[in-house]
Amino acid sequence: MSELRLLGIPGSLRLGSYNRGLLVAAQELLRDRATLEIVSLAEIPLYNDDVRALGWPEPVARLRGAAAASDAILFATPEYNFAPSGVLKNAIDWLSRKPDPPLRGIPYASMGASSGAFGTVRAQLVLRQIMLFPEALGYQGSLHVARAAQYFDEAGRLTDDETRKRLAGFLDGFLAYLEQIGACPR
Ligand code: FNR
Repeated sequence: MSELRLLGIPGSLRLGSYNRGLLVAAQELLRDRATLEIVSLAEIPLYNDDVRALGWPEPVARLRGAAAASDAILFATPEYNFAPSGVLKNAIDWLSRKPDPPLRGIPYASMGASSGAFGTVRAQLVLRQIMLFPEALGYQGSLHVARAAQYFDEAGRLTDDETRKRLAGFLDGFLAYLEQIGACPR
């Protein structure tokens, strides 16, 4: 599993994002077992099919290339109004388009942190629904971090050992799933 390449997609642009913080912690926990490249969606334009018809905008081309070069995707989604952020849905829309949609058949897992009491449960269910059309392969496990402010510092670093343990268990399950379905190399 040492050559496993994961792409980490945080659905938040916030500087001190808990969700980006989860991905950074995941990067540390995965260290010797997989590489986890964390992208930013800050430069991804709003989806416009007229623009797509003229060619992929550069940030979209980079994101699509990164996804295509990955064995699997790890989403960290915030919950906005019981759904993933528009920023994340917008990126998925770009990634789902032909030719060669990078999301088709790609294994993925989702996790999320929110300030609410349910820790992105609803957002992650919606994310699973969104990932049905591209026919991506969803890992059944998930990680929800509720009332997240107490577990991260202002820079978005995960500071809570118990949450780190839960994250480690979630990642172990995801890697075992990837091994089981023969996801590496893609
Ligand atoms: C929220 N937040 C939120 N939290 C939640 O648990 N359920 C929800 O439905 C919502 N809805 C929502 C809508 C909008 C527009 C905003 C801006 C926020 C709060 C959210 O969990 C909090 O802002 C997190 O900090 C977002 O994640 P990041 O940015 O820390 O990764």
